[in-house]
Amino acid sequence: MKLMSVVGARPQFVKLAPICDAVARLSDVEHSIVHTGQHYDPALSDVFFRDLDIPKPDRHLDVGSGSHGHQTGGILAAMDPVLEEDQPDCVLVYGDTNSTLAAAISAVKLHIPVAHLEAGLRSFNRRMPEEHNRVLVDHAADLLLAPTATAMDHLRTEGLQERAVLVGDVMTDVCYRTRDRVVGLGLRPGLPIEVGERYVLATVHRAGNTDDPRRLTRIVEALRDVDTSVLLLVHPRLKAKAAVAGIELGGGAIKAAAPLSYPDMVGALQGAAGVITDSGGLQKEAYLLGVPCTTLRTETEWPETLNDNWNVLDPDLSDLPKLATRRAPTSDRPSYYGDGLAAERAVAAIRSYIAGFGSQ
Ligand code: UD1
Repeated sequence: MKLMSVVGARPQFVKLAPICDAVARLSDVEHSIVHTGQHYDPALSDVFFRDLDIPKPDRHLDVGSGSHGHQTGGILAAMDPVLEEDQPDCVLVYGDTNSTLAAAISAVKLHIPVAHLEAGLRSFNRRMPEEHNRVLVDHAADLLLAPTATAMDHLRTEGLQERAVLVGDVMTDVCYRTRDRVVGLGLRPGLPIEVGERYVLATVHRAGNTDDPRRLTRIVEALRDVDTSVLLLVHPRLKAKAAVAGIELGGGAIKAAAPLSYPDMVGALQGAAGVITDSGGLQKEAYLLGVPCTTLRTETEWPETLNDNWNVLDPDLSDLPKLATRRAPTSDRPSYYGDGLAAERAVAAIRSYIAGFGSQ
């Protein structure tokens, strides 16, 4: 079977790593990787391939940044010749970015089966570009690889259950494996936090939080007011929007640093007193590693994390300083996100789908 993974943005490289491991154990799967170039800074791309032992991409589309239409359309047009030349048996798309949508549409138009990893997630917030992408991709794709029972419910509600398989969450696979690798290493040297200093880890990158200067100002002010150090890992989008709006990413509790590699992030998370974020992946990683999380959004695609207040939504920032440093709950954390073997199940589901497709 010829399987083609199409990835382009940071969280997709993380999800790609366990899929590469799973296919590497199978002699009958020929796996190729297409990098769309949506993320191109080494800190958002190359370091993930290096640290997670992902093979170099076979193709690079070099699409770069731009408006949604420009970026999505650029990938769509660039994918056609790649698919026509390589003729994969299945295209695997990941998550909910513009790269996911473009690759799915391109493959479906050429009658190449599409599998969607992380299918069925919903925020029900139609203002989010990710929500448009994930709904459209689920309805275009042939095989829906769902991470959670909640995701399966959403797919059922939308009449997509016949294409859906519950495989678990590949982010759990990679998070647990990385945790075991970095255990005891602590914070990477060179960060603006002293050894033994208490800190909360923060990331902000969603369009809904960064694009409106008034909203971004309020967030930065709230971070400054937290009564413990805030290690703010600055995504390029945040940096660009703050620069345009003249907002300084510092002052008060804030200690800003560049984005971290995945192992460094897991290490930083393990030592953190809490997390403040609008990232989907980080909410879940905080839950998996038992760190209380405060999410600067009105909703989450990972509602299971809200149980027992492991994760708390604080969209209006009213309680942020207090919430950010709250104690970790004492309750257990059920394994809603699978057992660390989701990638194997995803690849098995793709193989059996393609075997059935071929015999049609
Ligand atoms: C994208 C995804 C989002 C995902 C996030 C992970 C979409 C619609 N959004 O958001 O779902 O959570 O990736 O990081 O696909 N930039 C750089 N260097 C880069 C890449 C981007 O400086 O390597 C800057 C550019 O100013 C660019 C901005 O960041 O315009 C936004 O990048 P973009 O890829 O459009 O979206 P993200 O905010 O990264």
